[in-house]
Amino acid sequence: MACSYPSVSELVTDARSVYRQVFENEAPLVAVCAPGRVNLIGEHTDYNQGFVLPMALPLVTVVVGSKTSDREVSLVTANKDVDEPVRVDFTLPSDGSPLPPGSPSWANYVKGVIQHYRAPPLPGFRAVIASSVPLGGGLSSSASLEVAFYTFLQQLKPDDGDDVSKALSCQKAEHTHAGVPCGIMDQFVSVLGKEGHALLIDCRSLEATSIPLADPHLVILITNSNVKHALTGSEYPTRRRQCEEAASILGKDSLRDATMKDLEEAKNKMEDVTYQRARHVIQEIERTAQAAESLKKGDYVKFGKLMVESHNSLRDLYEVSCKELDELVSAAMEVDGVYGSRMTGGGFGGCTVTLLQASAINKTIQHIKEQYSGTPTFYVTTPTQGARPLSMS
Ligand code: GLA
Repeated sequence: MACSYPSVSELVTDARSVYRQVFENEAPLVAVCAPGRVNLIGEHTDYNQGFVLPMALPLVTVVVGSKTSDREVSLVTANKDVDEPVRVDFTLPSDGSPLPPGSPSWANYVKGVIQHYRAPPLPGFRAVIASSVPLGGGLSSSASLEVAFYTFLQQLKPDDGDDVSKALSCQKAEHTHAGVPCGIMDQFVSVLGKEGHALLIDCRSLEATSIPLADPHLVILITNSNVKHALTGSEYPTRRRQCEEAASILGKDSLRDATMKDLEEAKNKMEDVTYQRARHVIQEIERTAQAAESLKKGDYVKFGKLMVESHNSLRDLYEVSCKELDELVSAAMEVDGVYGSRMTGGGFGGCTVTLLQASAINKTIQHIKEQYSGTPTFYVTTPTQGARPLSMS
């Protein structure tokens, strides 16, 4: 019923065979992978220095390759649905000058990571990318590519190994080379995700607490709406600006420092839309802290209730949901044994995440399929480890 996806070793095998085909039958010496993520709760809070509660997925991006003795880079992607060409060649600038983004767009993430790598200068290399993270599906395919590539570069020329700085460099790559002013959540969990655990990340202190999430009676179901509305690109920076404006009216560094009381007192000093955005963020930060407590206690009923509140707030106050995501959440919530469901990630399409009793999985998938007006894809997932080098044997 749920979608099957290639294992890490299958992806490595595919990437190795592409490498051999493209690079004169040579074998790559290094392999690494980095996961995509699903966020359980805490949406649009990371760039407001709040809490988020994501987990790393078994859907990963793999990079295989070898260094060369010159400064030439050859990159090949084995991914489907990317813009052409699938191979890119360039020379690393010897004077540390920037590697400007260009086309194809998939290579920009790699160029950004090279530019922000923390132990320059890098040697040249050849590399092949393969991924099981659906591209543009809201499960952080781009962060998993950035982090996988950073991890690959660490095998060629080690940096100091500081994981938080690594996540920050990958976030910078997204800012400068993909033009998305994202928060730190996706890159952070792709680097630091822990098997069998969700990660409560404090996006102000950049400290994370891992919370066990390996109850065999519980299932985390991801449903891909398979729609992506064009708004995604322009709306994200607008939301970010509105939050900054609200924080500045409240005289705070960020909305993390604001309370609902502060907001109510300043309500008539701001436009209604700014008030609504800030209200979502302030309440969502609080909900995420409460959800983490509920998860620690195994109180899935409370956790599920907070998920639905989060979804409703993203739909009504933050206005980043869409008809398809709302349909998926409503359908999931009609099934007995479902604790909670919500849109996950930036919004305007992509995926929902649903927490449910393991025994209810088949009927939940069936019911969503019947109710949804589009064609959904399902992933039953468990929390996995963050980025890691892989053995080539
Ligand atoms: C995208 C961004 C993240 C975060 C989410 C919304 O995934 O990359 O940094 O802001 O949207 O929670």
